[in-house]
Amino acid sequence: RTYKIGYFIGSRSSASINRILSKALIRLAPHDLEFTEIPIGNLPLYSPDFDGDYPPEPRALKDAITASNAILFVTPEYNRSIPGPLKSAIDWASRPYGQNSFDHMPAAVIGASPGQIGTALAQQSLRAVLGYCNSRQMTAPEAYITFHPDVFTADGDVSDESTATFLTDYMRDFRVHIERVLTVIPRP
Ligand code: FNR
Repeated sequence: RTYKIGYFIGSRSSASINRILSKALIRLAPHDLEFTEIPIGNLPLYSPDFDGDYPPEPRALKDAITASNAILFVTPEYNRSIPGPLKSAIDWASRPYGQNSFDHMPAAVIGASPGQIGTALAQQSLRAVLGYCNSRQMTAPEAYITFHPDVFTADGDVSDESTATFLTDYMRDFRVHIERVLTVIPRP
């Protein structure tokens, strides 16, 4: 069957290497996965003041998550943690209390950095957050991508064969993970 994947880019940069990584992942993914970006760039910062009446953008965010079978996070590391805009988007989605959009949601985390540890610490922070949000995370394989501009073209073509194989396997395993979770916990 086909699965709808909503994906977050944790960066608002117009030249985001994580956006390039997302393009590569979409190209290499199993063909029965359908991808829709869930944009975070136009969201206000979260405040509980809105819990009684969400503005349109956070409402659309929650609807997009609910319409997805699974969520993919492709994020940079900012100061060894989650970029603020992404964290705020997750906070919106997790509320109002009792209406957490991530409850039982299959999810995977990946990210790219020019640095050697390839967003490892941001991913650990994000995993802790998603754990609290009761998301069903793929825990293995992990994917810490050190971004080399000669390996990825701007539209997501991957020239290095071992990188392409690794990312292909990652997306294939994500599909297996989604299928397993949805077998145990069917979502409407
Ligand atoms: C960074 N960068 C960075 N890189 C890293 O590996 N670990 C880190 O903790 C940080 N911290 C950090 C903070 C802030 C505020 C910025 C702007 C950048 C560098 C970062 O990996 C690099 O800018 C990437 O290009 C960001 O990803 P996008 O936006 O290109 O997808």
